Amino acid sequence: MIGDKKVLFSGMQATGSLTLGNYLGALKNWVALSEEYECFYSVVDLHSITVRQDPAELRKKARNLLMLYIAAGLDPKKNCIYYQSHVSCHCELAWILDCFTYMGELNRMTQFKDKSAKHADNINAGLFTYPVLMAADILLYQADVVPVGKDQLQHLELTRDIAGRFNSIYGDVFTIPEPYLGKAGAKIMSLQDPSKKMSKSDENPNASIYLTDDRDTIIRKFKRAVTDSESSIRYDVDQKPGVSNLIEIYGAVTGKSFEEVEKEFEGKGYGDFKLAVGESVADLLDPLHTRFAELSGDKAYIDGIIKENSEKAEYYATKTLRKVQKKVGFPERIR
Ligand code: TYM
Repeated sequence: MIGDKKVLFSGMQATGSLTLGNYLGALKNWVALSEEYECFYSVVDLHSITVRQDPAELRKKARNLLMLYIAAGLDPKKNCIYYQSHVSCHCELAWILDCFTYMGELNRMTQFKDKSAKHADNINAGLFTYPVLMAADILLYQADVVPVGKDQLQHLELTRDIAGRFNSIYGDVFTIPEPYLGKAGAKIMSLQDPSKKMSKSDENPNASIYLTDDRDTIIRKFKRAVTDSESSIRYDVDQKPGVSNLIEIYGAVTGKSFEEVEKEFEGKGYGDFKLAVGESVADLLDPLHTRFAELSGDKAYIDGIIKENSEKAEYYATKTLRKVQKKVGFPERIR
């Protein structure tokens, strides 16, 4: 708890361009929860270097991501929006937690398996211990709740295991966090291959809607989305994965249930449906584009936010880190 509020932590990697999956699976819920909780939203640039990055590009993407958090509706005066690399406690706690995590646990992580298959020439130790850094992110702030998409649930489960293990040895040091999944949009699939999740790193640009895509591009991508040879708009993930994904997107954007969406498009063809989905997404992203452009022009404001919020994050992170250092037996600091 901070004051009378429970704590929320979440983060996104500053790699690639954010997709509609990131927005509907995470960012949208972040905004919805931001009044109720004391929130920490990190741009997790330490995680980003587990795959090779161009330094200038990474810096640019990290800043754009930070601005996107604000453009999406998070008030940076109320929510602590900051760069993970500015708070060194993350690395210090990750090291300690490394010593409480088993190789066998990390070996089971599906994201590690996927990423090592994808980057077979660079299976580095950071990629392996990535989920421990993620646990450190969450536990440093004593987060009660962590809003994420479905693909991160396994990492959350590991975080809970590590925290529980640590607490069972040293007493109640860490809050055990709960994942938060939104009602719709927790797993948005590729528009070109609905058996895969929509991903920032997809090589086919038509597979993902990027949050920076303009209206025409968005509508064109939805028109090209893979569906099936029937013509009924019906939610059935096994038989109709493409159409079901579009229903999921439309439902998440408009707040309508799957049944309501099916009803709305009863008797209509795929062309009409795809256009409606495209337009709803374009309408959703319009204000975000406008706000992002405004923020991009206001360097001093963004710099101020970065400074203020990294100090705030550091304050809370240090409190937990000192407690942990004491528990494991490191000598006290003499001032
Ligand atoms: P990242 O950057 O891959 O994704 C950011 C958030 O977007 C969600 N997401 C999706 N949701 C629905 N459909 C999709 N197709 C989709 N693709 C991505 C993710 O579930 C995530 O919530 N390891 C994390 C970042 C991280 C983190 C943390 C998250 C680092 N430390 C601590 C929470 C708490 C990651 O790579 O997310």
